[in-house]
Amino acid sequence: MMGRCFLGLLCAGLVMHGAALATNSKNNLTSKSVSQPAAPKVTVAVQGPAEFKAKDFSHLLGMKGFSDKLLNLHFTLYQGYVKNANALTQKLRELSESGKDRTPEYAGLKRMYGWEFDGMRLHEYYFGNLGGDGQLSPDSALYKALADQYGSYDKWKEDFVATGMIRGIGWAVLYFDPIYGRLTNTWLNEHDLGHLAGNTPIIAMDVFEHAYMPEYGLDRGKYIEAYFDNIDWHVATERYNKAVENAAK
Ligand SMILES: [Fe+2]
Repeated sequence: MMGRCFLGLLCAGLVMHGAALATNSKNNLTSKSVSQPAAPKVTVAVQGPAEFKAKDFSHLLGMKGFSDKLLNLHFTLYQGYVKNANALTQKLRELSESGKDRTPEYAGLKRMYGWEFDGMRLHEYYFGNLGGDGQLSPDSALYKALADQYGSYDKWKEDFVATGMIRGIGWAVLYFDPIYGRLTNTWLNEHDLGHLAGNTPIIAMDVFEHAYMPEYGLDRGKYIEAYFDNIDWHVATERYNKAVENAAK
C-alpha cells in the first residue's frame, strides 16, 4: 500500500493509521501511564493540493527599464511553469494510482517537478519584489542587518550584483537563515539547484537570458541596474520581518 501511496492516498492512509494509534493509546491509558500526551489532531487534505493558479503581475507594466513587450513575454513564460507544475502533479498522481510509481517515467517526472515548481515560485518572488522605487530605508531592520553582515549596504549590493553576474543561467537570491539569522546572497543554477534548505528568500533576481536579452542584449549589468531601480523594498522588508518573527517562535 505504502509503495503506491501518493498525496491523497498517502494522506488517507496516514489518517487511518493515526486513528488506529490514537485508539490503542486511549485503550492503554487505564493499564499504563496516564502521563502520555494526547495524540495530536491531524488535519490533512485527503484530496491532494488544489491546483496552482498563476498570479497577475500586470501592475508591473510600464515599469521603467522594462518594456511591456519584455514583461508580457516573461509573464507568459511564468504562466507556463504554473501550467506544467499542475500537469506534473496530475500525471504523477495518475501514475501512482495506477501502480506505475516505480517506473522510469515516474522517476523522470518526479525529478522534473522541482524544476517546474521552483520556476513557478521563484518568478512569484521576483515579480513580487518589483514595482517599487528601489529605495531601502536606512532605518529598516533589513538595511541594518545587511550593513551589519556585509560591512555596509553598498558592500552587500556589490556582492549581490557579483552573484547575479555569474556566468550561466539562474537566479541571484538573498536568503535569510532562521537558525543563524544570517543573510546570504546565493546563486541558483537554473531553478532548482543551490537552494539553501530552510532559508527564506528575501529578494530574487532572474538572470535567465529571457529576463534581459530582449531589452539589453548581452549587457546583463545594465539589466541588474534596472532591477535595483525597481525593487520594492517594502515587500522585501515585510518578507524579512516575517521571517525573523517566525524564527523567534
Ligand atoms: Fe524568468
